[in-house]
Amino acid sequence: MSARSIKFTVNGKAVEREVEPRVSLADFLRNELRLTGTHLGCEHGVCGACTVLVDGKSTRACLMFAVQADGAAVRTVESLGTPEKLNPLQQAFTDHHALQCGFCTPGILMTLTEYLEQRKPNAPPPTEAEICDLLSGNICRCTGYQYIVDAAITAISNKAGAV
Ligand code: FES
Ligand code: FES
Repeated sequence: MSARSIKFTVNGKAVEREVEPRVSLADFLRNELRLTGTHLGCEHGVCGACTVLVDGKSTRACLMFAVQADGAAVRTVESLGTPEKLNPLQQAFTDHHALQCGFCTPGILMTLTEYLEQRKPNAPPPTEAEICDLLSGNICRCTGYQYIVDAAITAISNKAGAV
């Protein structure tokens, strides 16, 4: 199949490439752009490790072809903080020891980023049950989830000025 030309932005930078229609967005991000923070676990839409934001919506990058992102704004975990300056969500994960191997972490951070961006400013802090529901599409093999939930509630509450 012949390559197609696509143009979109990734983490605010314009990208223009020829790409085979069969290439997934996840493979494109990792192999073409070397944005390896987007992880691939199951590659069939179950684990959530590949979650990125496409036009602000959390999306399984393993289930989307790169050509489908033509014209979109894509954000990966690399758009958050840097190792020297973590963003508040990443800092909360560090403070609460909310990761072990870290394989699931980029997907979870992007799921929570979407939630934080869409949340109404005066909304009350979410309950543990609400965070568990929110993260039900992100599988973690290591942590038992409690510290992830604690980190998420801290980051969301801090953003709301509640703590
Ligand atoms: S790698 Fe995409 S959902 Fe598991
Ligand atoms: S920290 Fe290892 S899979 Fe979540």
